Amino acid sequence: MKQPIFLGVNVDHVATVRQARGGIFPDPVHAALQAEIAGADGITMHLREDRRHIQDHDIERFAVCTQSKLNLEMAATEEMINMALRIKPHDVCIVPESREELTTEGGLDVIANQSRLKDLCSAMHDAGIFTSLFIDPDEAQIETSARIGAPVIELHTGAYAESTNDTDRLAELAKLQSAADFAYSMGLLVNAGHGLQFNNVQRIAEIETINELNIGHSLIARAMYTGLPEAVKEMKRLMVEARIWP
Ligand code: PXP
Repeated sequence: MKQPIFLGVNVDHVATVRQARGGIFPDPVHAALQAEIAGADGITMHLREDRRHIQDHDIERFAVCTQSKLNLEMAATEEMINMALRIKPHDVCIVPESREELTTEGGLDVIANQSRLKDLCSAMHDAGIFTSLFIDPDEAQIETSARIGAPVIELHTGAYAESTNDTDRLAELAKLQSAADFAYSMGLLVNAGHGLQFNNVQRIAEIETINELNIGHSLIARAMYTGLPEAVKEMKRLMVEARIWP
């Protein structure tokens, strides 16, 4: 029997709209609860160093009322590590972060930062939190992630999503397939995300060694027209159909 596939919904851009006016709405916590009811298996909030969208109180409020699981996306800084240890989300997803970027632009360099990341994984493990490392589909990065004790990786699907022709798209898909299979064979739980949309998600959902897809921008954009529950249901339907039927 095929493994199920899970959807993690990233609600950062609900907070982006709120922060545009500095008020209290729309509330990413309300959106997260709606997404859960519509079938999201988890919720991601990225607490950025510059607090450009999600605020500390969003994490604090959601952590106590979630019925699925909170994935706290964060840079590997002391401030964020302390936040995670205090809030105790189900997962943390570690990403590289620079103030200038529009969104998370590349995977982590686990090889160059292995000693710091090893300590982080161990501190999270001791606190009962699963650490996911957001990396490009690269065997050396995967091998190092497994060696330093990360239980989970998230493969960066940005190069696949941004491909402008079929040749490049298929080449990126093949890289993701073999990276996912390799990571799975090393005992890692394999998630993926970035740039996934209604029209490109199914090829990724077909990769059976992938456990969860984390999707934000396209869902929040679609929600402007259809409402978030409808957007979440449609994305989940596409993912589940792709997993069950090929
Ligand atoms: N996964 C990670 C690690 C991310 O940084 C992001 C972007 O915030 C996503 C998934 C979701 O990407 P998108 O908003 O393009 O769906």
